[in-house]
Amino acid sequence: MKAFVDRWVLFFTAWGAVAVIGWRSFRSRLRMSHKNGILAAGRIRIVDAPAFPEHDFFRPGAEFPCRLRHASISYLDDAMLVVRAASLKFADTRFESPLDLLMNNGQTSFFWDVTSFMGFGSVTNQGRDPHFVKWMEDYPLTRKSLLESVRRDPSTFAQLYYYSQTPFEFRARDGRPRFVKFRLIPEDRGKEDGLPNWDEEPWNTGWTQGLLPGETRSRNYLKDEYRERVARGPVTYHLQLQLHEQRPGDSRDTLLSCMVVWDEATHPWMDLATVTIDRTLSYDEEERTLFTIGNLPPSMGITPARSVDDPASLNYLRLRGGWIRRARLFAIRLFGAPPPIPNERTPGYFNPV
Ligand code: HEM
Repeated sequence: MKAFVDRWVLFFTAWGAVAVIGWRSFRSRLRMSHKNGILAAGRIRIVDAPAFPEHDFFRPGAEFPCRLRHASISYLDDAMLVVRAASLKFADTRFESPLDLLMNNGQTSFFWDVTSFMGFGSVTNQGRDPHFVKWMEDYPLTRKSLLESVRRDPSTFAQLYYYSQTPFEFRARDGRPRFVKFRLIPEDRGKEDGLPNWDEEPWNTGWTQGLLPGETRSRNYLKDEYRERVARGPVTYHLQLQLHEQRPGDSRDTLLSCMVVWDEATHPWMDLATVTIDRTLSYDEEERTLFTIGNLPPSMGITPARSVDDPASLNYLRLRGGWIRRARLFAIRLFGAPPPIPNERTPGYFNPV
């Protein structure tokens, strides 16, 4: 009986969240998060000799056209202390694709199930920065992931590490049950850029993601840099994966939680593909391109969720978030894309709905 009730609570909570966020995305024509981004295109090539087990989708040497969207989360200013993202579509299309990977800086997230996502949403609605202090005190795991994920002043999107965070089912040809995480890393596999200097950031006296005093760069500096970089020549990344083979005694946390970092000694990152970006696309195309975890091949899967406190509930909610994206796109079809972000800063500019 409890399992039955838990599933219905999950169902109604998730669709309630989708309705509220979908309405906001329709009204604002902006993404719920990741509002500030740039879209590019190129090719993905699966490595010739993968170290991971044979898989129907990730076949050695296979090639795909692709789209890659880099974004800064929520605030409309590239110079703020924010998480950056890389969304990778295994097709050069606005929506249809055999696989989309949505990745953020940092190995863990700020929320780990539907309950914590709703809590995070309520802190955001209250006005973010000052309220995050209490939120981080109440949830030390969130503080840890926030401090590990935000980046200040990276010189380029191309020198950051992006992680898919939530595990997905990985159905290799040998039939053994496994889970997979992905990451996108720079061509030189070198040091990540933009790691904050926590001696300069006033995070422990009052959390703020605002600009540092004396900031003079354009609000669009990071997107401008990326556009210029791609115009000079192709930008390359490595896409990697990490596998966990299910063992007796594994908990749902071990298998499914986005807050559990898999030990690299036992779960090494393995090269999956090379991603080569050779052109950026227009702002209008960027606003009309949708990424969703619902685009995935039959040889991968999303584990069914049991309740709002189950780690699998995060992907359950994200999957239904496809309707939020459709609401935003529908508004853009009706009214056109919202205006691009201007270079100048005006009071209150950075924190839209
Ligand atoms: C660890 C968990 C999560 C990760 C790694 C993640 C990652 C991302 C990324 C990379 C994007 C940018 C997509 C783009 O470039 O267009 C995005 C957008 C978005 N995400 Fe998440 N996300 C997570 C959890 C969630 C959850 C729980 C929800 C709840 C519904 C959600 C809803 C959305 C929405 C609505 C957008 C904007 C979509 C649009 O309007 O096009 N995400 N997410």
